[in-house]
Order: sequence, then C-alpha cells, then structure tokens
Amino acid sequence: MANKPARKILRTSDFGDFTIWAAAIEERTGVQITPDRERALTLFLNRRMEELGCPDINEYLNEALDVTRGAQEWSGLVDSLLVKETSFFRHRPSIDFVSSWVKETINQDAFSGPLWVWSLGCSTGEEAYSLAITVERAMREVGREPRFGIIGTDISREAIFHARRGIYRSSKMAMVDAPACRDYFDQVGDHLWRVKAELRQRVCFLTSNILTDRSPLMRRKMHLIYCQNMLVYFRRWKRREIVNQLINHLDNHGCLMLGLGELSNWIPEGYARTAPRSIQAYTKVEAIEQGEAQ
Ligand SMILES: C[S@@+](CC[C@H](N)C(=O)[O-])C[C@H]1O[C@@H](n2cnc3c(N)ncnc32)[C@H](O)[C@@H]1O
Repeated sequence: MANKPARKILRTSDFGDFTIWAAAIEERTGVQITPDRERALTLFLNRRMEELGCPDINEYLNEALDVTRGAQEWSGLVDSLLVKETSFFRHRPSIDFVSSWVKETINQDAFSGPLWVWSLGCSTGEEAYSLAITVERAMREVGREPRFGIIGTDISREAIFHARRGIYRSSKMAMVDAPACRDYFDQVGDHLWRVKAELRQRVCFLTSNILTDRSPLMRRKMHLIYCQNMLVYFRRWKRREIVNQLINHLDNHGCLMLGLGELSNWIPEGYARTAPRSIQAYTKVEAIEQGEAQ
C-alpha cells in the first residue's frame, strides 16, 4: 500500500505576505495578531485546510474573509484568536460598586426604570449573570421590585451559545456565594449548575462585533455599560474610539465601567472618573455635580 505523502505543516511565513492577512483580521476584529495569537492562528489554519482539503492558504483566507460565503468559517477563525477567559464576580470591587451605584441611581427622582445594563465582551455569560444577580439583590435590598434587563454581547458565536444555555461546572462556581447558588441556580447534573429560568429571562445574549455591528437592540440607551478585559486586546487609539462610541450609548445619568488600567491618561470628553480608585468608572460631569449638590 502506498504511503500517503506527509502534508507540509504551514507556517505564517508560507502565507505570502502574512502582514496583509493579519491587518485584514485586525481591521475586522480589533484583535492584534501577536506572536501568541499567530501560533494559535497557524494551528487553526493548518487544521481547517486539512479538513477542507484546501491546499492554498490564500484561497482559504479569501473565502473565510468573504462576508457572506465565509461567515461560518470566519466565526471559527476569529474564535481561534480570542481569549475568552472569564469567571463569576470576577472583579469584586467593581461588583460592589455596581451594587451601590444601582441603589443610588434608582432612588433618584429623575430615574424612571427599568434599568438597562450592557455586558460588552461577555464571553460565556458569567459576567452578565453576575451583574443580573447583583442588580436584583441591590433592588430588593432597597425594597424595590426588580425592574431591569441585561444585554450580553460578544463577537464569539460559540461563547454566546454557551451563555444562552447558562450551564456551568462546579469548578466555575467558586466565586458564587451559597445564598446566590441557592437562589439563582439549579443543580442539573453531577457538578453542573444551570442559571434559573427567571434570571435567564432577564438576560438577552447577542453575537455582536463592537467594531461593525449596529444592532437595533443597541439603539436603546443604557444606564450601565460594563466592559472589562476586552479593550485590553485593542490598540490604544482603538480603545478610545470604542469608548467614545460607548459613551453615545449611555443614558444621561449612565455609568461606564472598564477593567482597571484599560484606559490610561485619557478621559472621554464631558466625563469624569468616579471614586474609588480600585475601580475604573466614568459618569457625566453634570451628573457628578448634581450628586454633590444634593
Ligand atoms: C477575556 S474575555 C473577558 C470576559 C469578561 N468581560 C470578563 O471580564 O470576565 C474578552 C472577551 O471579549 C470578546 N471580544 C473580543 N473582541 C471583540 C469584539 N470586537 N466585539 C465584541 N466582543 C469581543 C472576546 O470574544 C472575549 O469573550
């Protein structure tokens, strides 16, 4: 029996001028092709080209980058580049801030609910559900009927699929306290927990690329935009562009929360950073002045 010839493993140097492909991918996603990601991308490309029997990298990338024909392939390619690491209640000081901010905001005369929160770059949903639990608890603690909605968006289809199911392994539940586990999760198997339906109904997940999508849902003004550990993958000028875009989505009394250190030496116009320094949150200057005058 004749031996199948060993297939040559492609490296990025085999891809013609790889910087052109890297720039095209970064333009669409904002994700920089660092050496780490270059390795992940090479592995993905080798596997997919073998599966599809496509020997020519340029042909493959041309197809994958075609907006209509390549949608499915593109989604897998992007996924190979993304860091989707996340956890419930990931940054405690930010979560504590959300709780006190919600209580303060819903007690203002000018506020007429419901409260809308956007978890941007929500990955597999842990962040959006943590926000839902925090907002629900805060509203109950001040004796209000919970009236709120959470929108979770991410560029990764696979992550959003997981988020919508809302099923997590026990190993992912370490930061969920016992009362939250009892009130907001059902055990659905050995070491498996599912977010209760009542909480899942509060959270709507969408696949969306912040750089290109203009979903009608996003025309709604948000009271809180929570975007952590996503901007860090973008170049500095791009981060500013995205933050300016997010500010336009904020309600007048809205608040933008980023991950600590994701935006340094720059503040969006008309906004100020709020205390404490252990978090990175911005509100409109007039909103801060009004709060101080009260
Ligand atoms: C490291 S995770 C952070 C998850 C969560 N925010 C947290 O802090 O735990 C970064 C997420 O940003 C998403 N992301 C990257 N680029 C994006 C883009 N252009 N539009 C929307 N989401 C994006 C990734 O898919 C990934 O799930």
